[in-house]
Amino acid sequence: MPDWNPQLYLKFSDQRGRPAADLIAQLQLENPQRIIDLGCGTGTSTERLQQRWPDAQISGLDSSPAMLRQAQDSHPEWHWIESRIEDWQPAGAYNLIFSNAALHWVADHGSLFPRLLGSVAPGGALAVQMPHNLSSPATRAMKKVSEDAHWSSALEGARASTFVQPAGFYYQELRKLAARLNIWETEYLQIVDGPLAVLEWLRSTALRPYLERLPDDAQRQQFEEMCLAELEQAYPLDDQGRTLFPYRRMFIIAYR
Ligand SMILES: C[S@@+](CC[C@H](N)C(=O)[O-])C[C@H]1O[C@@H](n2cnc3c(N)ncnc32)[C@H](O)[C@@H]1O
Repeated sequence: MPDWNPQLYLKFSDQRGRPAADLIAQLQLENPQRIIDLGCGTGTSTERLQQRWPDAQISGLDSSPAMLRQAQDSHPEWHWIESRIEDWQPAGAYNLIFSNAALHWVADHGSLFPRLLGSVAPGGALAVQMPHNLSSPATRAMKKVSEDAHWSSALEGARASTFVQPAGFYYQELRKLAARLNIWETEYLQIVDGPLAVLEWLRSTALRPYLERLPDDAQRQQFEEMCLAELEQAYPLDDQGRTLFPYRRMFIIAYR
């Protein structure tokens, strides 16, 4: 599977960074000592955690060597772990287990979320943000193109590659394990430079499961062109060369 592309991901760093800041702002924790950032990527979410709690011992974990290399280059003094979240075996409890825009790539939230909360120390928190955008025109566009007879069976797995459940699922899974829960959703009304920018946004994240299943560059390019035609309908260019690209995200804070 091709690795993540840090440069492409960071192209929209302001808009991608804001949900992490919003999640951190809601956290009611005085002085967490041990923090881990699961799916830390290039380390921008880890930096925000460090800014809020400069005295904490913070680690970042990610399965992508390219993303982690960028994080390591920016902060060689911090502790970085190359691992899949599924395989992570925490050594001791954490005061904050944080994850921004990563757990939607990990399967079986019915066991994952209780397991992660089980590694939080009493008084600490599990704090998670995930895209929750399944009914958006962008998601529908990728799905529609993937159903084209040309590649429908090859892309079946990609259509089923999101693991995010409705908010009520997390409430039910966590309510008896958590001392307190804070669950909310926000739709960010992002303004971007037209449908091509929407495609670029998707290319570094939600399009990956489709693109990585196609056998060659020619098919990948054809797939992107067909997506762009759909995106041009859904996110029309305005007279200033921009478009509104609403993006919904789910936030979960479970205190122990
Ligand atoms: C959208 S980026 C978010 C990065 C960072 N948290 C931020 O806020 O900028 C998602 C990251 O999750 C990582 N990731 C995806 N699936 C993973 C898994 N199963 N285990 C560990 N990391 C994973 C990717 O490598 C990528 O760096």
